[in-house]
Amino acid sequence: MKWYMNAIFYQVYLRAFHDADGNGWGDFLGLRQKIDYLEWLGVDCIWMMPIYPSPLRDDGYDISSFYGIHQNYGLLEDFRMTVEELKRRNIRIIMDLVVNHTSDQHPWFIDSRSSKDSPMRDFYVWSDTDELYEDARIIFLDTEKSNWAYDEQTGQYYWHRFYSSQPDLNFDNEEVQDEILKALGFWLDLGIDGFRVDAVPYLIERDGTNSENLPETHDYLKKMRTYVDENYPDAILLAEANQWAHDLLPYFGDGDEFHMCFHFPVMPRLYMALAKGDRTSIVEILEDTPEIPENTQWATFLRNHDELTLEMVTDEERQFMWDFYAPEQRQRINLGIRRRLAPLMENDQSRIELMKSMLMTLPGAPVLYYGDEIGMGDNVQLFDRNGVRTPMQWNTEHNGGFSTAPAELLYTSIINDPDYGYNTVNVENQMRNGSSLLHIVRRMIQTRKKFPVFGTGGIEWLHDLPEHLLCFWRKDETQTLLILHNLSNEEVTVTLPEGKYEDVMYGSAKPPEGEITMLPYGYRWLAPMIEE
Ligand code: GLC
Repeated sequence: MKWYMNAIFYQVYLRAFHDADGNGWGDFLGLRQKIDYLEWLGVDCIWMMPIYPSPLRDDGYDISSFYGIHQNYGLLEDFRMTVEELKRRNIRIIMDLVVNHTSDQHPWFIDSRSSKDSPMRDFYVWSDTDELYEDARIIFLDTEKSNWAYDEQTGQYYWHRFYSSQPDLNFDNEEVQDEILKALGFWLDLGIDGFRVDAVPYLIERDGTNSENLPETHDYLKKMRTYVDENYPDAILLAEANQWAHDLLPYFGDGDEFHMCFHFPVMPRLYMALAKGDRTSIVEILEDTPEIPENTQWATFLRNHDELTLEMVTDEERQFMWDFYAPEQRQRINLGIRRRLAPLMENDQSRIELMKSMLMTLPGAPVLYYGDEIGMGDNVQLFDRNGVRTPMQWNTEHNGGFSTAPAELLYTSIINDPDYGYNTVNVENQMRNGSSLLHIVRRMIQTRKKFPVFGTGGIEWLHDLPEHLLCFWRKDETQTLLILHNLSNEEVTVTLPEGKYEDVMYGSAKPPEGEITMLPYGYRWLAPMIEE
């Protein structure tokens, strides 16, 4: 089995993780000091958010050089040592690769905007009018009014799908295409295991279309894959394409484009099902999800560094989600919700566990967001999506053990309220307590690892059950599991299919069989016992 098919991914925001040099920013040395923790947790691969030089107008997703490290994170040598150390511990690393756009501070753009005759002019998308490509939607709705920005100096408009400080590269230009492959090679040569490729649907734009998912975009992405396969056969490409499943399918190609794609449509439906106490939305979306080519995999997630996006739901569903999970206006942003998992679950450990259990047992390879394994909170007072990017809470020491810097020097304030503050919610406390969320998450990871069927097996629903029960088989030729979730806040009894079972997560004094009781928001991972 290919390594990524069943890997546990863990998203690291380096700035927030651990600060070793005391300047208020997480750094590579800090991460190295915490590899023990990642190993203990059972992480197979980390996804490192952008660490490249950047003016940080979009937290590093605005790159000003593809060939370096932001000075606050350390030197390239630090990066190299970190990759080596991770390797020694059998933890892989993929990095964010932002290719749709650069920062407006990237030398390419500075040159490009300097004059219409600049040799770099064609590296970006320039136009005399702002009426081209008008069917392309605006993504950062709360900040941007148009995908075009006027450049005074040369009297033309440049194209940007995100902030106006992030001009889109022109992928119709072969030089751009080649430059990006060069950048890929640079990092893969340093020993990383692949990339999460940011914002892939928007590489190419065409008038009269919505400029997403265009065939020309796929052509380039296939080129990227060929380059990776030919030179780095073990490396993977993971697509960030916030699209419906039928538009996602082409990103796998015939197994010749991306190895993995995030499953965007299923994510909000896990929350919706829980809110309604009704499994229907999950079952429907997964039944509508097409088969994907062999050796490709879905990446599934509950939260990440962005807003909990509500793009892949109907207007009515979005309104429901907003009303239920983000009743206050400031908890919303663009088409989403800027809150973390634990606050969304009202800090109720049983609901958090249930969400994690769904993530870990439904098809796909789970991607965990740093801090959610201990139930960290958020801070909606902070600008943009920064409220879900606060420092990791390690212990009850100064700044939660994140940094020795004076609190006012931290890149942002650490959560310090009675419910979610570092005095209450931190790694050290939870390590000491066997029934903490952290221990449960670890146990889920360890259990999942014993059953490769989670990564590769099929799914069969138990349809004949009340709507608040999400129950299914995971099966392949060698393993079978029966997974039960109670989406309601009431105790329920479930009649198990014939036979005796073993509780593979928690064990049980007596093997479950016949009628069993499930606690409110309870979950069970069962394996049929083979009778002697
Ligand atoms: C992706 C990133 C997001 C960023 C955007 C623009 O959606 O996840 O954080 O702002 O791309 O690069």
